[in-house]
Amino acid sequence: MARSRSETLVQREAKSDDLSGYLVTVLDPTSAASEAYRTLRTSLLYALVDDTPAKVIVVTSPDYSAKGKSTVCANLGVVLAQAGKNTLIVDCDFRRPVLHELFGLHSTRGMVDILVGEHDPREDYQEPLPDSCLKVLAAGTPPPNPVELLGSRRFSEFLASVREEFDYVLIDSPPTGPVSDSAILATQGDGVLLTLDAKKTRKGDVRRSVRSLTAVGANVLGTVMSNAKKQRRRNKIARAKIR
Ligand SMILES: Nc1ncnc2c1ncn2[C@@H]1O[C@H](COP(=O)(O)OP(=O)(O)OP(=O)(O)O)[C@@H](O)[C@H]1O
Ligand SMILES: [Mg+2]
Repeated sequence: MARSRSETLVQREAKSDDLSGYLVTVLDPTSAASEAYRTLRTSLLYALVDDTPAKVIVVTSPDYSAKGKSTVCANLGVVLAQAGKNTLIVDCDFRRPVLHELFGLHSTRGMVDILVGEHDPREDYQEPLPDSCLKVLAAGTPPPNPVELLGSRRFSEFLASVREEFDYVLIDSPPTGPVSDSAILATQGDGVLLTLDAKKTRKGDVRRSVRSLTAVGANVLGTVMSNAKKQRRRNKIARAKIR
C-alpha cells in the first residue's frame, strides 16, 4: 500500500552529532563562513536568466581538485531555507554521493531509485532540520550508468515536477572535466555554480570548464572560491561571485 506523504517524510531533530562539521550554517550560523553563504544566497536571489529567476541550480567544479561542491550545495540549501525558500537539494553525484553524510541522513533510497522505480519522489525526501523548508533527496542505490539515467526522460520529468513544487532546487554533481554528468545536468538546470579552489584549481581548467558548459547552452552564473588568501579574518569561503 502506498504510504502517505506525512508518513514517508523523515522528520528529524537537529542533533549536532548527526551533522557533518562542514554544515557550518547550522552549527555556527554567526561565523564568517555562514555570512559568506548568506552573501552567496543574496547573489542567487537576484540572479536572472532571461529575466526569470534561476531556480534550478547545478553545482559543479572543473575537476576533482576543486573541493567544495557538496559542501556549498548543503550550506546554500540551508541558508535558502532559513530565508523561507522552499528548497530541495538533490544528490546527483552518483559517483561520489556524500550529501546524506553531510546532513546525517540515509541513502538507502533516493534519486536513482526514483528514476528506475515507479514510486512518488516525495516518498524519498528527507527533512534534516526541524521547522525548516529544506528537503534533501539522497543519491540512493549507486547505478552502473549515471549518464544514461541523468539524460533520461524520467529525469527531465522529475525536474519539471520539482521545479513546480520548490522555490529552489540545488543539484550536486560530479566535476565537468572527467565525466559528462554535470554537462547533462547543466543543460536542464537554469544556471551553474562553479566551485574553485584558489590554491589548486588551474585557470586553464576553469576556462575549459566554462567553455564546455556554455557549448552545451548552460548558463554559468558564477563561481564560489574556497581556500582564498586570508584578508582580515580567517574565512574559508572567502569569495562568492555571481555575475
Ligand atoms: N570551503 C572549504 N574550505 C576548505 N576545505 C573544504 C571546503 N569545502 C570543502 N572542503 C574540504 O574538502 C572535502 C570535500 O568537500 P566536498 O565533499 O564538499 O567536495 P566535493 O567537491 O563535493 O568533492 P567530490 O569531488 O569528491 O564530490 C571536505 O571534506 C573538506 O575537507
Ligand atoms: Mg561532492
